[in-house]
Amino acid sequence: KRPAGAPDPALAREVTKVGIVGAGLMASQLALLFLRRLQVPVVLTDLDQARVDKGVAYVHAQVDKLVGKGRLDEGTAAKLRGLVSGSVDKSVFADADFVIEAVFENLEIKKQVWAELEKIVSPEAILATNTSSLSVTAMAADLEHPQRVVGVHFFNPVSVMPLVEIVRAERTDDVALATAFAVGKKLRKSCVLVKDAPSFVVNRLLTRFLGETFAAVDAGTPLEVANTALDPLGLPMRPLTLLTMVGPAVALHVAETLHAAFPDRFAVSPNLARVVESGKPLTDRDGEIDPEV
Ligand code: CAA
Repeated sequence: KRPAGAPDPALAREVTKVGIVGAGLMASQLALLFLRRLQVPVVLTDLDQARVDKGVAYVHAQVDKLVGKGRLDEGTAAKLRGLVSGSVDKSVFADADFVIEAVFENLEIKKQVWAELEKIVSPEAILATNTSSLSVTAMAADLEHPQRVVGVHFFNPVSVMPLVEIVRAERTDDVALATAFAVGKKLRKSCVLVKDAPSFVVNRLLTRFLGETFAAVDAGTPLEVANTALDPLGLPMRPLTLLTMVGPAVALHVAETLHAAFPDRFAVSPNLARVVESGKPLTDRDGEIDPEV
């Protein structure tokens, strides 16, 4: 069944090479997923060779793990290892037909990345962004071909989380949208079309969840109590584990974006800001919670 709002699948472009801009936490997981499910060349780039090498090494290590778990045969694994590569030179995207960016959540940085990319890729290439809260319309505003820009928002851990939010920006055309849905299907994800509005749908709820936890702390509830209070609900993760996985800085950024858009509905917790400022890892996995917060 076609997802609500998805265009005719016949409009989708074939994807024979994938470009990943970035080699960090989300980008390297995306590289693995695209490689495994599409089995086409996947190339990733980042600012320096060390980051690129780390991203490629992650993909290789995960391929090895899949072999170890009996999920991949050695022949396919060898093929996949040969299909992934990395470079600091974005010209490797010249013949990619689907490029997804997962760089730092900053509109100006993302706009710069896209402006640079547009000079390299073919005019037909679909440009996707994994932004979690920024306006895809604003990101594409200054491009020559904004109609091929689409939001394709994955969740961490990428290999496990089934949902992908697909975002139609103001000028996104049906070809880009159909390609995004077709790619999502090949990746075996459940894709939903969401409006290009701050933080789309999921991160509004996530921010509410983490935000209310920290609001309780701001009001004087000990962090440990706020963190464990929802255990009877049987949620897959406690708030602090989820926060650690998302990354406190990303969560704070999403909260700030939502506060800017809806000041009466979303607040930015001073305690969340302190967690980010401290730069210390925050985890409840071993029962240790930073007593300072
Ligand atoms: N990275 C990669 N894979 C992971 C992982 C991680 N951090 N954590 C678990 N997994 C994998 C495991 O390897 C396992 O895979 P296999 O079945 O292939 O072996 C699978 O997930 C299940 O793991 P567990 O048996 O340990 O299962 P669990 O019951 O503990 O579930 C979970 C793990 C699926 C991560 C679950 O805890 C969960 O759903 N947590 C909530 C995650 C969430 O809400 N993510 C969204 C964050 S928001 C975001 O990412 C977007 C944004 O823009 C900020």
